[in-house]
Formats: sequence, structure tokens, C-alpha cells
Amino acid sequence: MCGIVGYKGKQQPKDFLLEGLKNLEYRGYDSSGIALKNDDEIQIIRSVGKISSLEEKVNNENLINCSMGIAHTRWATHGIPSEENAHPHRVGNVTLVHNGIIENASELKEELLKDNVIFNSETDTEVACAIINKYYEGNAVEAINKAIKVLKGSYAFCIFFEDSDKLYAVRKDSPLIIGYGEEEVYVASDIAAIISYTNKYSLIEENEIVEIGDRVTVTLDGNVVNKEVLTATISADSKDKCGYEHYMLKEIMEEPLVLEKTLKPYIDNLDKLPDLTEYEEIHIVACGSAMYAGMIGKTLIEENTNLRVTVEVASEYRYKKVIYDRKTLVILISQSGETADTIAAMRKAKMAGIETLAIVNVVGSTIARESGSQLFIEAGPEIAVATTKAYMLQVAMLSLLAYKAALSSGLVNDSVMNEIKIVPRMVREILDRRDDYLEIAKSIYDRDDIFFIGRKIDYAVSMEGSLKLKEVSYIHSEAYQAGELKHGTISLVDDGTPVISIITDKDIKEKTISNVQEVKARGAKCIIISNEEITGYDHLIQVPEMSDFFQPLVVVPCLQLIAYEVAKLRGCDIDKPKNLAKSVTVE
Ligand code: G6P
Repeated sequence: MCGIVGYKGKQQPKDFLLEGLKNLEYRGYDSSGIALKNDDEIQIIRSVGKISSLEEKVNNENLINCSMGIAHTRWATHGIPSEENAHPHRVGNVTLVHNGIIENASELKEELLKDNVIFNSETDTEVACAIINKYYEGNAVEAINKAIKVLKGSYAFCIFFEDSDKLYAVRKDSPLIIGYGEEEVYVASDIAAIISYTNKYSLIEENEIVEIGDRVTVTLDGNVVNKEVLTATISADSKDKCGYEHYMLKEIMEEPLVLEKTLKPYIDNLDKLPDLTEYEEIHIVACGSAMYAGMIGKTLIEENTNLRVTVEVASEYRYKKVIYDRKTLVILISQSGETADTIAAMRKAKMAGIETLAIVNVVGSTIARESGSQLFIEAGPEIAVATTKAYMLQVAMLSLLAYKAALSSGLVNDSVMNEIKIVPRMVREILDRRDDYLEIAKSIYDRDDIFFIGRKIDYAVSMEGSLKLKEVSYIHSEAYQAGELKHGTISLVDDGTPVISIITDKDIKEKTISNVQEVKARGAKCIIISNEEITGYDHLIQVPEMSDFFQPLVVVPCLQLIAYEVAKLRGCDIDKPKNLAKSVTVE
């Protein structure tokens, strides 16, 4: 989703701003722009499409001599991706970039139009810009303070004023940080943007106003705030593809390593994990792949304990009627820790006095900071928009939680613990079978529809398999409970329609095989992923047999690599699929 970088220092900011934007490309965007400023002039250059087209434009311009600038990658919300709608926006004295959504933009715009303000875009951002300009009478902090009392919604702004040589920033419900270099200060929407320049940074809290001149001053409601300077632990080379053609592939290949890192602290030591059996009900709330990880968690917990678990899409949970009449734990799952709907769901539970536990990757993110307790996965930075390794670790963490709950319930013995140690090795073996996935991909990549089927845990796993495939390859794909396909959707199955069946649950294996027969009889190309040898179909990927708790972890990589190979054969922009954003910081 949208990204921000800002610079104030001694250098011409162009190179930093462009590199910063490239570092934010992974978040997903459809247009971009930069604004430069010196004492006499403001120069704004914007472009639709990739940063490379902005770069080309910038390089063809006579740039002004300056040492301050702001830049932005936009993921369209209000108005189509176009040069006019791209940021930075300028109204009067004020030039700014914005992440988030101003919810009362249309009301405010009506008022501003009455004052004869001229708008050049369809964006809510330009309205915010006009509002700050309206309140600006020479004191920037005062104008920003007045404006944020009027603006509703979410925002991270990086701003400069025509008659001031200072840079300003402010945020609410959308992250922003300040980075400290040698006589240089950076502003960014996440640390990945600036990590090759500095690892020293401060988090900007809600409605703190940052003023960057010769020194940095942060105020909240007029009172000076002393910021803690943090040291980022991610390294600049995590942005390196390490010889892989795509980040997605690199990140899938990292799975054994990050699994080892994430699981290690818990081997022979489950004390560090909460005991879910202390609760009467568990709500798992998340979006996208994180929600599908939750579906696996739900199945594992319910099948192995007597706990009730619901999984909810955060954008629904935040608005629906939720009855908290039992001792409930709300588990939020989020790679970024910044997904707007998941944050809102967390706050709803907290407001109701309900305990919250976050499974999160990004330390220092909003969800990591505001949730009652946290379990961190060790994915490191994930650059490909479509999540792979982070999803894998979310599943692994839920597997551990389910296992501990099952142990407490007395429904399993502790021999399963030994399996945790071999999971990374098993996953490595699965990843080594690249040729098998390519062969399957070659047989399905030119189809219009692909179906995934499974029952119980296998269905839970197949949902993400289907999502991954459609995200990166743009092939229409759906996951079905194996017994349900025949209630309608089987009408779409005909000669050669690929149906990928996951069959690892031995208790209902025969039932799923019957469903495979049903689609085979209608001409489907049948691809089976199973922990047993099942013959008589087009392709079989046989995965090692594991306990229920860890079985999904050896199926997930097969599905991810099939999706990857299919997308590659179709020539898709694998790391940056169209319309998708990595971290969805708006509703
Ligand atoms: C976006 C991403 C998905 C991700 C979802 C939730 O839709 O494209 O890959 O699963 O957001 O993100 P989170 O950071 O909360 O896990």
C-alpha cells in the first residue's frame, strides 16, 4: 500500500528519495511522485506505473538545487491511478504526501469549494492539503494541529511549506518513522525504506507533530516529547534477492531457516506459550492469508481439544455484533502488524475488556505494541507482496499453540514434540522437488479455472493454496470442501479442468478420494498432494507423513511453489501482482 519517504539534510535528495521509493515497492502501488524544494522553488514530478518511469522523468528534468524533498508511492483509493491523483499534492503554501484515507474528505471539499479552492485531483489527500493550507498563517505546527482536529480517518503526512525550510510529519492510524543519519533526517512509512542509510530511528506516535529543521523537535498538543532512539535489527541485505529470480521464490526457499528460528525457542519448552485451555472461547481475527492461517489453527485446536474457536475476517469482526459472554481470547494474526481492519478488531476486543494475543512479524508495529501479549514469528522482512514465509510461520505458531492446548487437555502425548525438530528438514526436502512443481505447472498454467479440494485440515490448507495461485497468476481459482463441490460448482469442471486435491487426513481420506473420482469422471485433470501413495491420477506429490499438528507445514510449500511456477510460466509480475498491496493500511 502507499509509501512515504522524506529527506532533510545537506545533499540533493533525489537519489535517496528514488531509492527509498524502490525499497517501498514491495508494499504495492500504482503511481508515484516526488517533490523537491529550495528557498525559491518547488518542483513536483509524478508518474503512473512503475518507479522506473518516475525515475526516467526525474532524470530528464533539470532538477532544482535543494536539500529537502518528499516522495510517495500511491495505491489508489480515491480516484483512478493517474498523474493528477498521484502525490505529492500542492495547495497554496502546502505540499504533502499522504498514506491513509480522509473519511470526511467530501464534506470538507464542499466547504472548501465554497471558499473557491481549486482542486486538480479526485483525491482525499488534496483536500487534506487544502485544509492545512487554510489554517496556515505562518506557523506550521499550529496549522497542522488545527487541521488534524478537523480531519477524520487515517493519515501519515510528510509536509513542507513554501515559505519555510523545515520538513514536517504527523500520523494517525498509519505508521511513520523518523530516521537519523549524519546531519540528515529521514521520514519514512517503514524502516525498509531507509535501512541502507541508517538503522537509528524513532517511532512517531499518534498526532505527534515532527518538525525537522537544524534539529528535530517533536510535540504533542504543544508539549515537547523526547523520542527514544531505536536500533533496527533488519539488515539492508534482506532486500537482496540472493541470486533468486524473484523475492517470492527467495522467501519460499528461506522457509526452513525461518522455521528453525521461530520454532527453536519452543523446542522442549512450551512454557513460553500461552495455554489456550485457560479460555472458554477463542476468536481468531485476521485478513487475507493470515486469516487462512487462522483456519488451520482453528481446525487443529478444535480437533485436538474441546475448545470452541471461530475465525473471522477482521473487516467483518470490527463491525459485527460479537457476544463476549465466555472467557474469551482474541488472537490477532498479522505479518505487518499494520493492517487497518485487524488493528480495529484488536481495539474492539480491548475496549470490551477482552484479552488479546498477537501473532506478528514486525516488532514495533501497531498490533505488536497495542496487543495484550505477543508471539513474534521470525520471518524477517518479506518483500514479495504475496506472503509465503510469514504465512508459513503463522501456521507454525498456531500449530504450537494447538499442540500445547492439546497437551493441557490431556488429549495427546508429548512424543509429538520430537517432530518439531525435524520440520525444517522436511520442508527443505519438499522445496528441493522443484521439477515436480514445474511439471504440474506446465500442465495447468494455460487454464482459466483451477479448483482446490480437501476436507477438514486439508480444506483449511487448500484455501491459501488457491489464494496464492490467483494472487500471483491471475487464474480464477477456488477452494472447496471436497464434499461441497458437487453442490453447484462442479458444473464448471470439464475436460482438463485442474483439480488439486489435498488428502492427508487419514480418517476421511476415502471420502475425499470419492470426490476426486467424481471430478475425474467429468474429465478433470487430477493433481493429488498426499502423505500416502495414491495412484491412478494425473500427478501425485507425496509429502512425508507427520502428526496432525505439523502435517500442513509440508503441504504449504508445495502449493506455494505450484503457484510460483504457474505465474512464472504466464509471465506475471510475480513479486508485485496487480492491484495488491502488501500491507493494507486502509479499510
Ligand atoms: C494483504 C496482503 C496479504 C496479507 C493480508 C494481511 O492483503 O496482500 O498477503 O495476508 O494483507 O496482512 P497482514 O500484514 O495483516 O498479515
